[in-house]
Amino acid sequence: MFDPVAYFHIAYARHAIMNPLRADRLVAIARRCIPATLPRVLDIGSGLGHASFALATELDAYCVQVDSSPRWTARAEALFARHGMARRTLILTMDAASYHPPEASFDAILCLGTAPIYGGFADALAALSPALRPGGVLIVGEPTIDLPLPRRYKTYIDNQEWAILSGGELLTVAENAGFELLECHRSTSEEWDEYMSLQWAAILDHARAHPGNSEAREFAEWAKDEQEVYLAYQRHYLDWNVIALREKR
Ligand SMILES: C[S@@+](CC[C@H](N)C(=O)[O-])C[C@H]1O[C@@H](n2cnc3c(N)ncnc32)[C@H](O)[C@@H]1O
Repeated sequence: MFDPVAYFHIAYARHAIMNPLRADRLVAIARRCIPATLPRVLDIGSGLGHASFALATELDAYCVQVDSSPRWTARAEALFARHGMARRTLILTMDAASYHPPEASFDAILCLGTAPIYGGFADALAALSPALRPGGVLIVGEPTIDLPLPRRYKTYIDNQEWAILSGGELLTVAENAGFELLECHRSTSEEWDEYMSLQWAAILDHARAHPGNSEAREFAEWAKDEQEVYLAYQRHYLDWNVIALREKR
């Protein structure tokens, strides 16, 4: 199996938000759910910085971004600087699991596709909730599967490092962790198709640009397998959700 960091850098070269999520949909959710004006936002696994950038520009948020990839954090720095927004963010290049923010210091925490940093959805809720101010919200992007799955696709899902829950299980885990669900938004098929297509095109073009490179060829073969999985199964059985959670009183 190839190096996951190398895979990320090639496959996500063309994305802005690195998930099946349009920035305007995230902003709309944040506008409704984040209680404060001029909110302080923590963005875990912030990638290229586009989720934070959308909240900084549209909600006047101050965003602390944490990502382990120096390549991505450099691009996030450049994005904020290019728009004269550098003072609206602090960008930390480090393992987010080792970042321990002060208690009750954020109005919102973004964990968009990054719960595995903590070991999974339940562990992410437990790790992040102390940093929320009273009434603050966790905005989590998490996949769910629609059961029952065809046998071939179930084997594929079972082999993923990510333990993917059903929608019902996701809700139960959130409630058991002391949260109430404010909002749940499923990614649209357009968001999914764009998210997947950007990956495939980036990987296939990389292979073309590096014809003698065996890893580039291996990536391309893998992407072709993923296209088949996506069209035959994933489109029908896998959802990606953005959920807004607030601690129960
Ligand atoms: C699927 S991308 C999501 C990026 C961003 N949340 C977004 O929606 O655009 C996952 C990100 O998590 C980062 N990441 C993975 N493991 C990490 C860790 N242990 N600590 C910090 N960042 C990590 C990767 O570098 C990558 O930028």
